[in-house]
Amino acid sequence: MDGRDLVRSVRVVRAVGPAQGLRSVRTAWRRRRADARALPRRVSERARVPGAARDAESLPGGGLIHFARSSLRVRVAAGGAVFCGWDGAEPEPSYALAGPCPEADARAVLEPDTEGGWRIVSERVMVTVSRHGAVEVRTPGGAVLRRELPPRWWDRTDDRADDRADDSAHDGSGSPAGGHAEGREPGGGLGSRWVQRSEVAADARFFGLGGRAHGPRLRDGAYRLWNTDPGGAFEPGDDPLSLTMPVQIVVADAGTHLVFHDNSWDGRVALREGAEGAGSGHDRPGTCEVRMDGGPLRYWVLAGTPSRVLLGWTALTGAPALPPRWALGYQHARWGFGDEAEVRRVVAGYRERELPLSAVHLDIDHFDGKRVFTVDRERFPDLPGLAGELRAEGVRLVSIVDPAVKAEPGQENPTVYDGGAAADAFVRDARGREVRGVVWPGESVFPDFTDARVRKWWGGLYAERLAQGFSGVWHDMNEPVSFAPFGESTLPRSARHALEGRGGDHREAHNVYGLAMARAGYEGLCELRPDERPFLFSRSGWAGLQRYGGTWSGDVATGWPGLRASLSLVLGMGLCGVPYSGPDVGGFSAVPSRELYLRWFQLGAYLPLFRTHSAIWAGRREPWEYGPEVLAHARTALRERERLLPYFGTLGQLARLTGAPYVRPVWWSQPRDRALRDCEDAFLLGDALLVAPVMEEGATRRAVRLPRGRWYDTATGRAYDGPGQVLVDAPLSRIPVLARAGSVLPVAGADGGMELEVWAPAAGRGGGGVVVPDAGDGWQRPSVERFTARLVDGRVVVERRDGGAVGYRVRVRGVEGG
Ligand code: NOJ
Repeated sequence: MDGRDLVRSVRVVRAVGPAQGLRSVRTAWRRRRADARALPRRVSERARVPGAARDAESLPGGGLIHFARSSLRVRVAAGGAVFCGWDGAEPEPSYALAGPCPEADARAVLEPDTEGGWRIVSERVMVTVSRHGAVEVRTPGGAVLRRELPPRWWDRTDDRADDRADDSAHDGSGSPAGGHAEGREPGGGLGSRWVQRSEVAADARFFGLGGRAHGPRLRDGAYRLWNTDPGGAFEPGDDPLSLTMPVQIVVADAGTHLVFHDNSWDGRVALREGAEGAGSGHDRPGTCEVRMDGGPLRYWVLAGTPSRVLLGWTALTGAPALPPRWALGYQHARWGFGDEAEVRRVVAGYRERELPLSAVHLDIDHFDGKRVFTVDRERFPDLPGLAGELRAEGVRLVSIVDPAVKAEPGQENPTVYDGGAAADAFVRDARGREVRGVVWPGESVFPDFTDARVRKWWGGLYAERLAQGFSGVWHDMNEPVSFAPFGESTLPRSARHALEGRGGDHREAHNVYGLAMARAGYEGLCELRPDERPFLFSRSGWAGLQRYGGTWSGDVATGWPGLRASLSLVLGMGLCGVPYSGPDVGGFSAVPSRELYLRWFQLGAYLPLFRTHSAIWAGRREPWEYGPEVLAHARTALRERERLLPYFGTLGQLARLTGAPYVRPVWWSQPRDRALRDCEDAFLLGDALLVAPVMEEGATRRAVRLPRGRWYDTATGRAYDGPGQVLVDAPLSRIPVLARAGSVLPVAGADGGMELEVWAPAAGRGGGGVVVPDAGDGWQRPSVERFTARLVDGRVVVERRDGGAVGYRVRVRGVEGG
């Protein structure tokens, strides 16, 4: 046991107490033993590269190229997404894809090129494949976006295969989930590790890979692909976190592209930015190396402008779920509310101070003994009553839901465990025994969400939450976590999973566990309450999570670096297709200073999920706890959030329709502006607003990097012309927010009705905006209204694109007196 293990042991004991702490030592040993027994240790590996090309055959959207020791399928889909699959890998089955693989583009055909290789020309990209298996993706104009070098595999065979076959014959386990011997593939092989190295332009910048604390620009370094609970709190520099994804967005002068390695195994991505050889003409390309411990080598590339790329990505992996309207309002969470009276007291605190509040989140302390889908009846004797009472004043209740189920059969009343055991729902080890771990309620078992049957059973359990009066759910601890003083704090890698009937182990299922849990919850809620859109957000997940809901930062450390990390996470997730997210305002792990709390609150007010939350030991997060000055400024931020709700609603609808996140990097519409690519301390909220949070202690002024065009400081009305950097005031009372000249955005007027806020276009330039009016919390198809704004004789004229009446009050700003 080293120093880090000791720290973890203390943490585990603090989390679950000494008795369960001891149990966690036992489960960690068990885990180690199970893996040693079931996973191959003595493997022989043989390195392999594709070798020389032999021939190629045309297939829809491209073709299949045969090399001496592998084959490559290249298939351009209608819409322009390029699929490459080595060694027979096909696009399906996939946890990421929203539906069947999109049709092939019939016009994209494989043809020989002049270098002895092949090429496929399509509307959006040109793909070339060399005779040794290098793949280049170019723009239609011929600029190289990405050059994939020939991959390398290490094919594995298990030297102990025969001993193990004897072993399992003797233990007579007969695992229902077992299928063939764990990890082994037909033909006795164990699959292959592989590495793929690629080059991008010298000026390219990397983004994405899910939620990373030290982004949004991913600097040189190695990023792990293994969803991991950071254990207490994380800061920039901690990697990986709860929600990793093999999705990179690469932005260069030549164009933007997204590459997705559709493989859920443990892996690493090593990135190195390139360098331009100032005048020498010798550029050093940027490099990216993806290394996976197993699973298929297949990837998708989507190229175009950032908005086209996100449109294509969400067409492939699913439209983002639309949160109900109330989920765009301010929400207050608390680990350790204590009891009903305390919830009432806090809600009354908001009401009495006239602070808008949309939802209150109850954490594990409202469960009976921390058991999921139960209520502590002593402290919450009438939860449905409380929920009804709060609902009447416009406040919803949201419940935490953890996947771990306490392993206890019921005495008189059947427990969740009994139901799951009867349904054979829990993950088993290679010998067929339930895998036990230690989580909040003590010894626990874990539903296998990769089994449709189990998802159905689990989804049905949300009926209990709805009956308690909850309006939404907050999925936690679903990396999944099993506390461990040493080794990995998750399930054994050898644990068996159904993987939709294919069978496999936790090495493949781990990263999609949270995603599959989100699917179970979402589908359950849709079935149980068909008229309302579910509200679900999840700590862990994978590519495609947006189909079911959003996410949040997890346990971000209280501190200025944590504040920065929380913005990085939201931006990174948005670029990976998950637009709805936000941090624990104030930080999770400690009591923030007044200033830090306020600056975090002001940032949170412009993020889709605006929620205060903290650890049970980290003090309170109600705005009035931080003194009258903070309270006054927090009130201003809350009021502004309320005013912007119609805009947030519109952005949510647009995210659903187009994949464009609410919160976008400042380079979103001008990716060729290199200074913008390097700007990490501001963001665009939709097309209209540029938000520049204060992330430095003591700052009351800050530099803001502006994209091209005219921008108005919304507080002072002062106009600035970009591109360039300007210095703006950022007093404690507010953070700088700039509006793009010409933008039209829907806001709530003083009487609560919707009005259009229009920022005067710069002379000679037009403007406009899109409005998607609120259509309730059901499944109604939204109407999309488009407006234009132009200057006529010094006056701002706003019109509806379709020629109809504007229909809203218009408030013009950015002109004198406006
Ligand atoms: C970990 C979550 O990240 C945190 O938000 C929550 O309060 C605790 N688990 C307790 O449930």
